[in-house]
Amino acid sequence: MKNLAILTGGGDAPGLNAVIRAVVKTAIQEYGCEVLGVKNGFDGFLDEGGIFPLDLDAVRGILPRGGTILGTANRGNPFARKVKRNGVETIEDTSQQVIENIQSLDLDALIVVGGDGTLGIARDLHRLGVPVIGVPKTIDNDISGTDFTFGFDTALNAAMDAIDRLHTTAEAHHRVMILELMGRNAGFIALHAGLAGGADVILIPEIPFRFEAIARKIRRRVARGTYFSILSVAEGAHPVGQNQIYAIEGDAIYVARLGGIGNLVAKYLSEEAGFETRVTVLGHLQRGGSPTAFDRSLATRFGSAAVRLASSGGFGRMVALQGTRIIDVSLEEALAVPRRVDINGDEVLTARAIGISFGEN
Ligand code: F6P
Repeated sequence: MKNLAILTGGGDAPGLNAVIRAVVKTAIQEYGCEVLGVKNGFDGFLDEGGIFPLDLDAVRGILPRGGTILGTANRGNPFARKVKRNGVETIEDTSQQVIENIQSLDLDALIVVGGDGTLGIARDLHRLGVPVIGVPKTIDNDISGTDFTFGFDTALNAAMDAIDRLHTTAEAHHRVMILELMGRNAGFIALHAGLAGGADVILIPEIPFRFEAIARKIRRRVARGTYFSILSVAEGAHPVGQNQIYAIEGDAIYVARLGGIGNLVAKYLSEEAGFETRVTVLGHLQRGGSPTAFDRSLATRFGSAAVRLASSGGFGRMVALQGTRIIDVSLEEALAVPRRVDINGDEVLTARAIGISFGEN
């Protein structure tokens, strides 16, 4: 193995730099191999100056830094790229050009660090013969085949901290506080932050809720003399029989962006149920900042394992955490079914057992 390249694609997640650092150190020190950095996801294969050498100096000091030194793009799909021709925007399939550029670099492996969208592109490029290795990244934790993606733990801690902060002001003002959290169609952040922060109600996409059930839970607390309540609400949560709420519609390039469910629940609780209610949307604070110890360690283990997987020719596969071990699974398998909260799993059962409502009945 002489020549590796690495790119980061999709929304950023804390720990990306830790993966890059581990890839570069392992490749150079263990395998005597050169590493190229690809800027801004797959766009780097098409843009002028998009490829550059990554040496040990380039990765010095980046372990605790959020973001990614390579840059990222969540619209950089080579199979559907937005280009301007004579002032008119069109969508073009540039995958052949990307593949030719990859071939001209004579890469032994391309390490792709991304979530479901980016890893889906990696899988499709692998089907066309590109020697791809995947590393699962996302704060949403919604990729199958791995118990955790890196980035999730940092986002979760930011969410838990927000719940802690909301608790004191909620109690002081006898208010209902709603915290809307990211996660797309998976409720992992809202569920785990709700458990860790002691929320009274958790709303997740996997368990459609009823407004009246939420109000009943809050009234029961009031009847016991507790005049405040905290709701941990996933952006993808939705009432029984109703669709999810989108802040921005999607198109051929951007996926639709969820947002607004917190305000809808607040409207019901204040206008129909009579509770003074406030909404906080934590947003991209969940994606920023320094990775936690768990994410730094997982990202480092993933990066190093990805180089070992490349050296053994495990193309079309993704490194993963199962239990305490780093293993690898095929990208086809990992992407076949997205990971969701197990509604019969221990976390949900425990939440119910300690009196947390999912807004069901
Ligand atoms: O997938 C990560 C994520 O942060 C989701 O939780 C969220 O819905 C989405 O990305 C936000 O996307 P953007 O960064 O484009 O606003």
